[in-house]
Amino acid sequence: MRELKIFAVVAIFSGILYYGVEPFAHGQMHKHVDSNGLVYDGKADIAEASKDKKEAKTKFWAEVAEIAKLKGDVAAGEGGYAMCMGCHMDGIPNMGGVVPPSLEHAGAIYDKNYLIALVKDPAMASNVDHKYADTMMHPMGSVGSMFPTPQSIADVVAYLQAKKAGDVTPKVAYEEACMRCHANRYGKLTHLGTAPVTKSNIMTGYDVEGMKFKQKVAEEQALVAAYMGKLPPDLSIIYRARSHHFLETLIENPQGQLAGTAMPRVGLNQNGMDKVMKYLQETGDPSKPKREALGPWVIGFFVIFTILAYLWKQAHWRDLH
Ligand code: HEC
Ligand code: HEC
Repeated sequence: MRELKIFAVVAIFSGILYYGVEPFAHGQMHKHVDSNGLVYDGKADIAEASKDKKEAKTKFWAEVAEIAKLKGDVAAGEGGYAMCMGCHMDGIPNMGGVVPPSLEHAGAIYDKNYLIALVKDPAMASNVDHKYADTMMHPMGSVGSMFPTPQSIADVVAYLQAKKAGDVTPKVAYEEACMRCHANRYGKLTHLGTAPVTKSNIMTGYDVEGMKFKQKVAEEQALVAAYMGKLPPDLSIIYRARSHHFLETLIENPQGQLAGTAMPRVGLNQNGMDKVMKYLQETGDPSKPKREALGPWVIGFFVIFTILAYLWKQAHWRDLH
């Protein structure tokens, strides 16, 4: 009887800690941010905007919604895309802080509304307009003047959705969406991609080409850090440090999780989000598939072990009864 009472007291206190205190403390330290379901309609931006910005943001996102209703002309959009490639072509160096990413899968990983908003006004679309006062401009800021009419924006976005929507691997999705700002050491990705394979000179022992690449990466990091105000963290093991929900809502709207952060919104659609998260999981928790594959074997072992133990017990007790 006494044991039961002690057990009851322990159970009640554990219950209070587990279901009451811990979730409360957690809720105080990490506020819960709801996802907007990867719908980019500016709802959170407008709600969080200061009074003087509310009107401009409301107008901006209403115009984006209007453009989204237009039927884009893929053929006309191809000409517009050539202008994007002026900055986004392969091998282009750092531009105003980062290397413009490849757009090879832009239609596959980014949301349509977000792309429209981005071409209209990149700083507004990614919710970092507060960083750009009159003197400084978003490095993609001039794109607006290249696509001055709603129809021209609808056309180029239609082109991306039709022609840049092929299958994308988790790694490539990460390279296009995150790598210009975030290295991933376990994925062997620097801000400039994977290091080339180089060899040391047999006479001197120095790997000059390898050293040159390291220098380029260091210089690139300095530019990214200057642009962002700090070097964005390496994301190798972020998947273990943060919850899946935190990561998704951060990418969808960084300001919602870290008010005032320099990280711009990355307007991924469901496919883009799934792929990026898969890559983060692969680099952050690479033994997970192995662990999971091992599970059935372990359970199988215990099942067989239990049957054998039972038979063994039966055999022993048979004579005693
Ligand atoms: C003047 C150069 C320039 C032009 C023109 C340009 N871009 Fe960009 N773009 C950039 C730069 C620089 C970045 C990286 C900005 C950053 O990460 O802060 C970027 C980023 C992007 C991103 C990633 C956005 C994100 O939120 O992660 C997409 C998508 C994109 N551009 C699409 C386009 C499309 C589509 C066009 C043509 C309609 C275009 N760009 C034209 C320079 C340009
Ligand atoms: C244009 C640069 C840029 C791009 C692109 C970018 N980020 Fe970031 N990111 C930042 C900066 C800057 C920070 C640091 C934010 C801070 O401390 O306020 C950051 C922080 C983070 C953090 C850490 C938040 C924390 O817990 O402290 C995560 C996770 C993250 N980014 C994920 C991503 C992912 C995933 C992508 C691609 C989908 C991405 N970022 C794209 C600039 C960027």
